[in-house]
Amino acid sequence: MINVIGLGYIGLPTALMMASHGVEVVGTDYNEELVATLNAGHTTFKEDGLDELFAEAVKAGIKFTTEYQVTDTYIVSVPTPYDKFSKKVDACHVVAAVKAIMKVCPEGATVVVESTVSPGTIDKFVRPVIEANGFVIGQDINLVHAPERIIPGNMVYELLHNNRTIGADNKYVGEKIKELYSSFCQGDIVVTDIRTAEMTKVVENTFRAVNIAFANELAKICRHDNMDVYEIIKICNMHPRVNILQPGPGVGGHCISVDPWFLVGDYPSLAKVIDESMKTNDGMPDFVLNRIYEIMQEKGLTDIRRVGLYGLTYKENVDDMRESPTLQMLESMERHLCGNLVKVYDPFIEKDEVPNQMHNLDEFLNAIDLVVLLVGHDEIKQNMNKLAGKIVLDTRNICMLEGTYRL
Ligand SMILES: NC(=O)c1ccc[n+]([C@@H]2O[C@H](COP(=O)([O-])OP(=O)(O)OC[C@H]3O[C@@H](n4cnc5c(N)ncnc54)[C@H](O)[C@@H]3O)[C@@H](O)[C@H]2O)c1
Repeated sequence: MINVIGLGYIGLPTALMMASHGVEVVGTDYNEELVATLNAGHTTFKEDGLDELFAEAVKAGIKFTTEYQVTDTYIVSVPTPYDKFSKKVDACHVVAAVKAIMKVCPEGATVVVESTVSPGTIDKFVRPVIEANGFVIGQDINLVHAPERIIPGNMVYELLHNNRTIGADNKYVGEKIKELYSSFCQGDIVVTDIRTAEMTKVVENTFRAVNIAFANELAKICRHDNMDVYEIIKICNMHPRVNILQPGPGVGGHCISVDPWFLVGDYPSLAKVIDESMKTNDGMPDFVLNRIYEIMQEKGLTDIRRVGLYGLTYKENVDDMRESPTLQMLESMERHLCGNLVKVYDPFIEKDEVPNQMHNLDEFLNAIDLVVLLVGHDEIKQNMNKLAGKIVLDTRNICMLEGTYRL
C-alpha cells in the first residue's frame, strides 16, 4: 500500500492516478477540511479530467485521512517554499512529514520525496531525521527523490505522458520505485542518484525562468524606445535556432517563481544570471503598474477606481493564485495606498480573496474604463468584443482590438 502525504496540487492527482491504475493508495493530509471535502466526494481544485480521475480512484478504493499509515512505501508531496531572506529552500514541511512517517513506518519502508528540493537538501535535512530515529538508511529505510514535472492546466495528461526522474541511493531501490510509477506513467523514467535528481528538477525550472526573463527584458528595452517586442520576437523566431518566449506581467505559481531562488541562495557568488533573471521577472508587476499610470496620464484618466485587473491566477484556465503577478501588483499598490481601490475579476476565483473583487464579467467591465488583461483565460479570449470602447492594457498579447496598449 502507498501512503501519499500531502494532497495538494501534486499529491492529490498522483494519489488518484496510482489508485486508478490498480495501486492500493491511502492519501494523508493534515488539513482536516481538505480531507473532509475529499471524503464527501468532492475534489479540492479545478483541473481538466480531475473529477473523472477522482471518481475512478474512489471506485478503486482510495482512502483519505489525516492519519499517517503503517505501510512500506510513502510518497511525500508537501510544499517547499523558499526563505525570502536567504533564498534557500525551506524544507520544514518535508522534515515535519518525514518525522511523522518515522513514528509509524516499519523497517524496510521506502520514503519517496516528490517535493521539489535544492541539491543536497535530502542529505542535509532528511537523512538526519531518519538516522535520529535509529534507522540505517539503505538497510532499514530506503530513500528516494522523485521530483514531479506536471503543469497545472494539463496535469492529468502530463502525469500519464511526461518522462520522469527517480533518484535513489542504489539501483535496486530506484528500479522498484520506477516500477511503481510505471503503473501509470507512459513516459521514459530515468534512474539516477538523489543529488542529480534534486538538481535536474531545479535546473529545469531555472531554465524556464531565465528564458522568460530574457523575453521580459526585451519587452522593457522595446518599450523604452517604442519598438514592438511581439513583432520583433515573431521575426527572430523565424531563425532556425532562435526560440524566444513571450513576455508577460511576471511569473507566479509554486515552481518557476520559487525554485530558481534555491540556487541563488545556495550559490550566491555563482548563480549571477539566475539572480538577475529572477529579479527581472519579479520586477514585471511594477513595470505593469508603471504602464497603467502612463496610460492613465495619456488618456486623462484620474480615478484609479475606474481601473480593473482581469485575472487573479498565475496562469490561464487554472484556479491557482499562488505568487500570481496580480497579487504582487496589488501588494505593491497597497504600499502606495491604492491597493484596495482597483476592481479585480477572475472567473476561476469564486471566493472573495482581495478587496473590490467582482464576480461577473459584465458588471466588472461596466464598473471600469481601463482594463488590464493579466491572464489569458479562455473566457476573455471568447469575449474580446465586450472590451470594445474600453481602454485596454494587454500584458498577454491576446487582444487584437484597435488601440490596445501592450507591455
Ligand atoms: N503545483 C505545481 O505546479 C508543482 C509542480 C511540480 C512540482 N511541485 C512541487 O510539489 C510539491 C507540492 O506542491 P503542491 O503545489 O502540491 O503544494 P500544495 O500546497 O498544493 O499541497 C501541499 C499539501 O500538503 C499538506 N501538508 C503540508 N505539510 C504536511 C504534513 N506535514 N503532513 C501532511 N500534509 C501536509 C498541505 O495541507 C497541502 O494540502 C512542492 O515541492 C512543489 O514545489 C509543484
